Parts: sequence; C-alpha cells; structure tokens
Amino acid sequence: MENWLDRTMRPMAAALQHDDMARLGIANTMRLSKGWNRLRHGRLQSGLRAEYRERWDELIAENGAPQGRPSLLRDGWALDTTRSLPHLDRLLEEGAQVVAERGGKRLKDTGKLFIQDILAAEDLERFPAILDFALSSEVLTAVADYLKAVPLLSRTLAPGVRLTESRADYDRSDGPPKESQLFHLDHHDCPLVYVIVLLKDVTPQSGPFCFLPAAASARAAAALGYRRRGRPYRVTDEEMFAVIDPAEVQKLIYPRGTVLFIDSSRCFHYGSRLAIDPRYQMMYNFVSACRTDLSELFMPLRSYPRRDGASRLRRLVLRQERPR
Ligand SMILES: [Fe+2]
Repeated sequence: MENWLDRTMRPMAAALQHDDMARLGIANTMRLSKGWNRLRHGRLQSGLRAEYRERWDELIAENGAPQGRPSLLRDGWALDTTRSLPHLDRLLEEGAQVVAERGGKRLKDTGKLFIQDILAAEDLERFPAILDFALSSEVLTAVADYLKAVPLLSRTLAPGVRLTESRADYDRSDGPPKESQLFHLDHHDCPLVYVIVLLKDVTPQSGPFCFLPAAASARAAAALGYRRRGRPYRVTDEEMFAVIDPAEVQKLIYPRGTVLFIDSSRCFHYGSRLAIDPRYQMMYNFVSACRTDLSELFMPLRSYPRRDGASRLRRLVLRQERPR
C-alpha cells in the first residue's frame, strides 16, 4: 500500500539506484535500502519467517508432499541433475513452445544485445507448468531452507520469472565481455535465491552461466574491496583471477533439465559470453520482503496469476495472501 512516505522517497530511490548504486556505493545503498524496507515491510518479513519456523510442515503438506529429498544449498548453491523435480518435464515442453514461438527474433534493441527475456506476460497463464515448477514443494523447500523464511517471487528487478535467450548473433559489437558477461554480485537482495533451469543442453559454446561458490566469492570480494563506494560493479577476469584461482569457477555446462539453485548476491557470476550455440534458461528470482534495493518504490509491481484452489504456500509466495 503506497503512502505519503513512499511518494516522498520515490525520486531519491531512483537516483540512489541509478548506475548500479554508484552514488553512495553498493554496500551503503544496500544497507540503506534494507533499513527502509524493514521499516515498510518488516512486519511482512517477520510473518514470512514465522510461517517457515512454525508452520512449514503444514504449508508443505497442503502444497503437495515432496517426493524424495530436495537439494539444499551449500556454499551458496545446489545442483540438481536428477531431472526428477515435479513438473520439470512439462516445464521443458512448455518452455520449448515459447522458444519455438519467440526464439531467434530480436524483440527489441536493448543495451544487452547478447541476452533477452522472451517470456510474455500472458505466458504464465498459457503455460501453467512455469509457475507450477517454481512453486512445487521441492523447489520451495530448497529456497526456504536457505532463506529461513517463506520466499517471495520478485515483482520488480530482477523479474521473478524470465525465459532468457542468449545468442552471439544479436550482438554486433565486437570486443571484450561487458555488463552481465562480467563477474558481479547481484545487489537487489541479500540473501536471495535464483533457480535456473536449462531448457536446452548447454555446451562450452553456449555462453554457460559461470560462478564462484560463496566462500570463494567472499574472499574475492574482500580482496577487491567489492561493493565499496567508487569500486565498479563489474569485475574483469584479470581482476578476479589476480585474487582467485580460475579453477574455482563452476560452469553450468549440463544437459537440458538441469536445475541450479544459487544465491547470486553471494556467488560472483557471469554468463552469455559469445553464445554461438543459443542458450535458453528459465530463471526464477526469490527474494525477501525487505530487499536491499528500492526498486519497489519506483517500478511497476508485477502481479502473478491467481488460481482457484491454490495452496496457502503458493498464495504467500505470490503475495496473494498475508502471513498469519
Ligand atoms: Fe547477475
């Protein structure tokens, strides 16, 4: 609910966020944003924590008892190569339909020519497996175990759901890697969880998603003075490999149906470098109610489709219901 405080804060929020939080520095802006969001949404976050602490078994039972043991994040990440997560086969089929309809066409001339989101707003209604997969008890257990709260699907940046297409032939600018092709830590929340599903086999020529586990990333961040004011958001390979052994980099070169859970605010990452073989990923972004950015103040808030008979957990994650 917007109030006068939000309206007063809005112009400042956009300015603070501009150019990857350059004005005050990333760490300062994240702290300030967290404080603001605690003031505005702290009660919601406490409720989401209490739901996880006190009623998780009940929420999960109603949402559908998990089959087998979910993969839990260790050192900031977890990989599931079993291809057994619920709704995954449907998701792969429906994802392929979106790719068949919209893949291979440059949708708009954005700055990031090497990557684009090809999911349309109506796809979440047309292709129910997209949300069913993300809201399954197995996926939500992994995310909630890490965040120690019922998670929320992001409504602003980065979008809660994307189907990204990365391909080299859209990018006509030759030159070194740029933007998200360079190492960085996301700053919109911390901790957070991304769930990445490979919709097509990823080869070394697909511009694989690459990352450093959380402990190695923390060492790198300390050595680089990362997130301090004046230190750029993006880190070149030369800078990174002056402080970290390249052998520590994990590369998401796996078959279709592989799922990565990762805290991209604690694990340095990059991707979409020279994707000669186009890469297609479904990407889900789970955050808290008290983000470390101010995007909810000045961006339109996305809402997700409602479904009759949806479980309480599903409604909580999509913000269609408040915690008790
Ligand atoms: Fe990122």
